[in-house]
Amino acid sequence: MASSFGAAQVLVASNRGPVSYEVGEDGSLRARRGGGGLVSGLSAIGPEAGALWVCSALSDGDREAVRRGAGEDGVRMLDIPADVHADAYNGIANSVLWFVHHMLYQTPLEPVFDAEFRRQWASYETYNRAFAEALAEEAAQGAAVLVQDYHLTLVPGMLRELRPDLRIGHFSHTPWAPPEYFAMLPGDIAAQVLRGMLGADRLGFLTRRWADAFTACCERFAGGLGDTAVGVHGLGADADFLRARSHEADVEERIVALRAEIGEGRRTIVRVDRTELSKNIVRGLLAYRQLLDDHPEWRERVVHVAFAYPSRQDLAVYRDYTAEVQRVAEEINERYGTPGWRPVVLHVKDDFARSLAAYRLADVALVNPIRDGMNLVAKEVPVVSDGACALVLSREAGAHEELGEDAITVNPYDVVETSRALHEALTMSGDERADRTKRLAAAATALPPARWFLDQLDALREGPVSR
Ligand code: F6P
Repeated sequence: MASSFGAAQVLVASNRGPVSYEVGEDGSLRARRGGGGLVSGLSAIGPEAGALWVCSALSDGDREAVRRGAGEDGVRMLDIPADVHADAYNGIANSVLWFVHHMLYQTPLEPVFDAEFRRQWASYETYNRAFAEALAEEAAQGAAVLVQDYHLTLVPGMLRELRPDLRIGHFSHTPWAPPEYFAMLPGDIAAQVLRGMLGADRLGFLTRRWADAFTACCERFAGGLGDTAVGVHGLGADADFLRARSHEADVEERIVALRAEIGEGRRTIVRVDRTELSKNIVRGLLAYRQLLDDHPEWRERVVHVAFAYPSRQDLAVYRDYTAEVQRVAEEINERYGTPGWRPVVLHVKDDFARSLAAYRLADVALVNPIRDGMNLVAKEVPVVSDGACALVLSREAGAHEELGEDAITVNPYDVVETSRALHEALTMSGDERADRTKRLAAAATALPPARWFLDQLDALREGPVSR
């Protein structure tokens, strides 16, 4: 039991925080702020709400900021030893739990739960405990704590033991695995994950499908949900922010540059992703190649604008995947390209302004993940697009639950079907595209980030206490 209570009334806990630091050449620290649903949610409750964000120090700059005590108000970064963090984040969270929930294993050879896995699991426990202890120290009596994601599944249970007075919520930004797939985890580990989560008063998921999968896992492996409530909060796009940001000068500049790369009068098929195994970028390229084979009339008249930004490059499997995306894009350009036409315009350097420029120029958006918690790109493009945009959308994206009716649905594994969907999207009449885009934008913005966050906070504060 914590000996004294802290001052924070609302606490958010996540691996990646709202700010990161770099040490400049002159030794000074430069802060960079991130965006996203949680950032706008927390700003919506105002500075007087007594909010604190607990996160990990991720970079050398972050660790230096912790050492110098230079962190921002409202943020507490945990300087967890780098090797413990690497085992927990790369070894367990991203290589095991992410793979299980996105069903990414090539099962003939993986996963292998050996002694090395057990060693890394112990680091995952240590890392979760560091969060639980920091939250227990900082939280005021009866405060609300909102724990985020698969990195921190053990925190609710650990925190409940340290501080039974708190209101504890947990939100999953990923899918949840169906019981047959979840059962791949060693039995004691599966039980520990579920018990950890069930330490919360309330669990949030992005779609009904993921919430039901979690409930099914609990019924099968944990004797049910117990007193824990489960809610669905489908994070939407931030229309006001996106519309304003996408008309700033840097975006206009990127539009001019992109138009020059695309060429006059050509249609665009746009995708913007982190280079993430679940995003299915390679099959997207194969579908585009199929389109050029089946419909030679599109040659020289369309460009696939593919932005694939680096992600989790500490993991070999992500580096290999990044190389494969580049290889297939180059192969298409070599085989089909002409002196005046580059069929695939691939960019790998993260540039938010250029992403917005591509959204504005898109005739077709391709969002074809193998499995995805929500996929905000599918929601953002219809809001930002200048001239109306047809959406080709995987049935396995969480966003499909809300956008499916006005999108062209694809099975992400079926490259032929995806190429046909691209053709259908490119040939859709302007009127139909405009009507669908309007409805897609309305559905995509139904639950803006601030409301999404406040709904969870209200439900956590007003709902029954689980113990
Ligand atoms: O989709 C789950 C999620 O945790 C998101 O909240 C976030 O966009 C991403 O994964 C984080 O990835 P990372 O911090 O590993 O770059």
